[in-house]
Amino acid sequence: MDQIAPERLPRHIAIIMDGNGRWAQKRALPRSMGHRAGVEALRKVVKTCSTLGIKVLTVYAFSTENWSRPKDEVGVLMTLLTEYLKKELQELHQNNVVIRAIGGIVDLPREAQRELENSIKRTSNNTGLILNLALNYGGRSEIINAVRTVCKDVLSGKQQIEAIDEEQFSNALFTRGLPDPDLMIRTSGEMRLSNFLLWQLAYTEIVVIEDLWPDFGEKTLIDAIKTYQKRDRRFGGIHTD
Ligand code: IPE
Ligand code: IPE
Ligand code: MG
Repeated sequence: MDQIAPERLPRHIAIIMDGNGRWAQKRALPRSMGHRAGVEALRKVVKTCSTLGIKVLTVYAFSTENWSRPKDEVGVLMTLLTEYLKKELQELHQNNVVIRAIGGIVDLPREAQRELENSIKRTSNNTGLILNLALNYGGRSEIINAVRTVCKDVLSGKQQIEAIDEEQFSNALFTRGLPDPDLMIRTSGEMRLSNFLLWQLAYTEIVVIEDLWPDFGEKTLIDAIKTYQKRDRRFGGIHTD
């Protein structure tokens, strides 16, 4: 941990937690066990991010495309979400974590929504790590949703078309108020975005890790941050010194 430069910590880390199914398959276990193990990995990562002083952690927990999985698996994932919030709320709250969510929350099962609303409310005055859960999240649907918001403001006269800019558009996204991710980590070796934060990842450093998500731990996170700190972020410019 002491090999990390504290002044160059990523402010916002986003993670595509991928590979639960393959983790289970390798052990001849049902996929649901992989998802259970995945929740454990999440618990640990939240703790490490909190300790390190990371400001925002966004985790992709369920995509708009994940509804296409068998009903049983979707059910397991929703139950795990509810259980996670119920079991962890106390500790997250004690650790000063703020819980937020992005995605089509109103389409989640009622029970999950209730726990989520409760967790968000309980932790809203905390000042530590923002744990941002991407649930029923899709980058494209988020952008469409933002376009609708902006169009309504134009129609009502609140917004001039010419005045629409990147900052205003960003404010119509679910991630309103959060900085764009500095570091995006995807586990299980897959090199694609799978509809995650399409707008926000424009200049994010991407680190793909071979480990399957349930095997991801403190060391893996620290290695990823070290990799990030070695990157040269140019944002389209050049170095002149
Ligand atoms: C990630 O693991 C968890 C979710 C998508 C909810 P997967 O379930 O995608 O695991 P693999 O990719 O099939 O191994
Ligand atoms: C992305 O993983 C979504 C989450 C981790 C929640 P997927 O496993 O659903 O993505 P694809 O299907 O491999 O692109
Ligand atoms: Mg997957």
